[in-house]
Amino acid sequence: MKYAEIIEILAPELDALNRLITSALHTSTPLMNEITATYLRTKGKQIRPVMVLLCARLLGSVNEKVLHAAAALEMLHNASLIHDDVIDETKRRRGVDTVNALWDNHIAVLTGDFFVSAALEQAAATDSLPIVKSMGDLGKELSLGEIHQICNARDRHFRIADYFDAIDKKTASLFVKCAFMGAEATGTPAEVAAPLLQFARLLGLCFQIKDDIFDYFPSEKIGKPTGNDLREGKVTLPLLHALAESDNAPAMKTLLAKDELDDTDIRTLIDFAIACGGIDYAYMRMEQMHREATELLTRAYPDSEARQALLDLFSFIISRDI
Ligand code: IPE
Ligand code: IPE
Ligand code: MG
Ligand code: MG
Repeated sequence: MKYAEIIEILAPELDALNRLITSALHTSTPLMNEITATYLRTKGKQIRPVMVLLCARLLGSVNEKVLHAAAALEMLHNASLIHDDVIDETKRRRGVDTVNALWDNHIAVLTGDFFVSAALEQAAATDSLPIVKSMGDLGKELSLGEIHQICNARDRHFRIADYFDAIDKKTASLFVKCAFMGAEATGTPAEVAAPLLQFARLLGLCFQIKDDIFDYFPSEKIGKPTGNDLREGKVTLPLLHALAESDNAPAMKTLLAKDELDDTDIRTLIDFAIACGGIDYAYMRMEQMHREATELLTRAYPDSEARQALLDLFSFIISRDI
């Protein structure tokens, strides 16, 4: 199944989800309504709610709780992007101008806060204390992941293990919660859901590794600027591998010790990472995790349309160009 086919299977549920999100963000304040209406016009891939819906289908069926949980997670994700674009000073996302570009940082921070609060309200609407509690855990993990990343950039230890710790928290944790909430909302016992949560974690790690690879190549399609990570001191898997393997690493580390990298420095580092096989290495790590995840899912659950869609979602995450 291609990603478009997965979306097709879930179309009625995704319609309901988007209605829920629109009404959850509606207020009596005209400026906030203008901001959210502008924001919601360009939706993104909605992979996280897709994940919640597929997990719910795998373990049971989609009910109101599942929809509220999916809305909560997508809105928390959007809040983290709105804030991330302030932190990264990014002006484009999803092929359109960001909230901080269209308005300003002040408005963007408040809009992100507004999304977080609306997300918590949706979590509360599930009437499930474990779901509300896991939203609290998740919010903490996401911000700790971002802090972890800043520490990694400052320490300049360039350890692959530190990179995995950071992406586990800032990205994979959200995917794990998608599976957790899908299970919780369908009344699935924790031991039955456990392999699905492990699958989700591997999927989330691969999702961020792939996103980080985008940064090494110019692309119109991706809808956000590339080459930004290094400018912020973020050294990701392909370059980490090159630094660990190559004899030229000391010269590159000297470059990375500079306070600010210019375009030529960034080009040098990217070329170095690619030439040392950093991109191939990142794909190799993803393929390893893909195999492990496939094994986990096929062993634990009987064949079904939802199981196949989850397996195909994993393949899409690795091969996607958006
Ligand atoms: C971008 O996520 C942020 C990362 C965790 C890398 P997505 O690529 O899922 O963003 P949208 O929602 O589809 O725009
Ligand atoms: C951070 O990752 C995304 C979050 C977890 C909020 P990136 O900084 O790589 O995300 P993009 O590339 O801006 O979407
Ligand atoms: Mg960013
Ligand atoms: Mg990125």
